[in-house]
Amino acid sequence: MIDCAACGAAVEPQISLGRMPLANGFLRFEDFGAEYFYDLNAGMCRLCGLAQLTELVPPEKMFHGEYPFRTSGSVRMRTHFRELARTVAAKHLPAGKSFVVEIGSNDGTLLESFAAGGTRHLGVDPSANMVDAAERAGVRSLRRFFDEATARDIVSAEGQADVILAANCFSHIRDLRSLASGLRILLKPGGVLIFEDPYLGDIVRQGAYDQIYDEHAFYFSVISVSRWLSTHGLELVGAEPVDVHGGSMRYIAAIRNRLPPSPAVAAHRRREVDGGLDQPALLAGFQRRIDQSRSELVAFLNRLKLEGRRVVGYGATSKSTTVLNYCGIGPDHLAFITDTTPLKQGRFTPGTHIPVVPPAAFNSPFPDFALLLAWNHAAEILEKESEYRDAGGKWITYVPEVGILST
Ligand code: TYD
Repeated sequence: MIDCAACGAAVEPQISLGRMPLANGFLRFEDFGAEYFYDLNAGMCRLCGLAQLTELVPPEKMFHGEYPFRTSGSVRMRTHFRELARTVAAKHLPAGKSFVVEIGSNDGTLLESFAAGGTRHLGVDPSANMVDAAERAGVRSLRRFFDEATARDIVSAEGQADVILAANCFSHIRDLRSLASGLRILLKPGGVLIFEDPYLGDIVRQGAYDQIYDEHAFYFSVISVSRWLSTHGLELVGAEPVDVHGGSMRYIAAIRNRLPPSPAVAAHRRREVDGGLDQPALLAGFQRRIDQSRSELVAFLNRLKLEGRRVVGYGATSKSTTVLNYCGIGPDHLAFITDTTPLKQGRFTPGTHIPVVPPAAFNSPFPDFALLLAWNHAAEILEKESEYRDAGGKWITYVPEVGILST
């Protein structure tokens, strides 16, 4: 049981995924004995409909100098952020001097376009290695967690922002109340806040339970976001589905009564009510689907093991930590997992201790089967690895159903 991060009401867990290590806790052999574990449970607030983790990991354990996730790791994400920057510049940046702030700016991939166009900007991110990478890319960055105090300091040093951006970040910030107060302080009257995160509707529809892990404290919906923002003088004025990270929603907000809400907001809210997206019973039903998915995936991989097939994993995503640990998939099932991120290579997966190796290992020789753990990048990866398919290799997926991908 925990107090809802948005409204303070009691939230009970409806989903239990057992003991879990840190999703990005890729570790060295010598650290096997000292891994951190917590109970991965999630529930929905009966009062405001916000789906959230009900046990929390201290932020310093997750976001630090060795944080391995890099936005620029995917071509699709780079294109997506260039398009977002273009949309913001065309629709939301006032003429003349404007100021753009990105919260959770990571390696600067999104702000790079603004920096290149000479727009005054600031990235805020707590991970030292990411701030260094962003600075090297010409993106001005502040190494700090974003909260009310950070917002006040930015405003007194640099003034309020015309546009505040955040991508795959707000679902990571535990203190939603301090976040919203900070946003209200930082946002110029008439300015816009644009953020996107994995969407609860897509997670449930696709059975993507691997979106549930320590860093994703929240699984937002249009209903829960509207309610959260409205208690802080902000108003949701737009909501647009975006096809990244396995299904996300882009939320556009402003200071209350400053901008007319798009009819899309009310339409999404109606759809969510019809689909029960604000009802805790939704998550209880989801747990049954998760358990079914686990049984099928484990049976599938056990069969391949018995047949002596060579199976590897593709993409050591944060999401994969949930699936591998919940299903008990280890080095017996997957010989290794290939990943493009240098910081993950040479290490072992959290909890399950599967070696993570550079992509060059994938075709030497090609495996019989590859478990596509980076399923949200399926199009990009299947195109890149067309030789694997041509050589008879098979992709295993588990979202939305366990099976072989038709290529
Ligand atoms: P991603 O799915 O973006 O996020 P999360 O960690 O939030 O679940 O992670 C993608 C991972 O997959 C990242 O570690 C890089 C890796 N990857 C590859 O190894 N090859 C590829 O072609 C792509 C697109 C990603």
